[in-house]
Amino acid sequence: MSWGALAAEIEQCTACPELAATRLRVVPGVRPAGARLLLVGEAPGATEDETGVPFAGRAGQLLDRELAEVGLDRSTVAVVNVLKCRPPSNRQPARAEVARCRPWLERQLQLADPELVVTLGGTAAQWFLGTGVRLGASRGVVHEVGGRRVVVTYHPSAALRFGPKGAPLAALREDLAWVAGLLA
Ligand code: URA
Repeated sequence: MSWGALAAEIEQCTACPELAATRLRVVPGVRPAGARLLLVGEAPGATEDETGVPFAGRAGQLLDRELAEVGLDRSTVAVVNVLKCRPPSNRQPARAEVARCRPWLERQLQLADPELVVTLGGTAAQWFLGTGVRLGASRGVVHEVGGRRVVVTYHPSAALRFGPKGAPLAALREDLAWVAGLLA
C-alpha cells in the first residue's frame, strides 16, 4: 500500500465520535520519498486542523528552524502525530483516543520504515515507551522498541512556552544536533 492510500483511509476515520464531529480536517501526516527520519508529535492544533499539514503552526515553525540549524531539511523528514484529529481546544488526547488511533501510526511506521524515530513531547514518548516514561530521564539514548530505533525529546510547544532561555529549547537543540549526527 502507498502512503497516500493509507492517508486516504485515515481521512475517513470516525472511530472517535467527538473528534470526528469537531475536526475540520484529518491530519494523516507527511512522508517525503526516501525520508530516513520520522518525527512523531502529539496531535494537530488549530493551524494543522485548518491546513491538513502537521506542525504547520508556531510550534512547527520553531521545529523547522531548529531542524535547519542542525542541517536537517524539514521537507526531507516524515512527520506524523499520535492523534490524527485535533482534540477540541487542544486538550490532552484521551487515553481511549490514543488507543483507537494506535493502529494508524503502527501502519504508518511499517510503511515508512524509518531509520530513526524521534518523539516530540510526552504523549509520543509514552506511545513508544509506555506511560511510566520520564522525558528528562529518557533523552540522549537510542531506545529499541519493537525493532525500531527511537529517540525522545521535548515538544517544540514546550520550547515556545518556556521561551528562548528555557531548558526545553536547549534540550531540543541538543537532541536534534545529536540526531543529525546519528543520521550522518
Ligand atoms: N503539535 C503537535 O503535536 N503536532 C502538530 O502537528 C502540531 C502541533
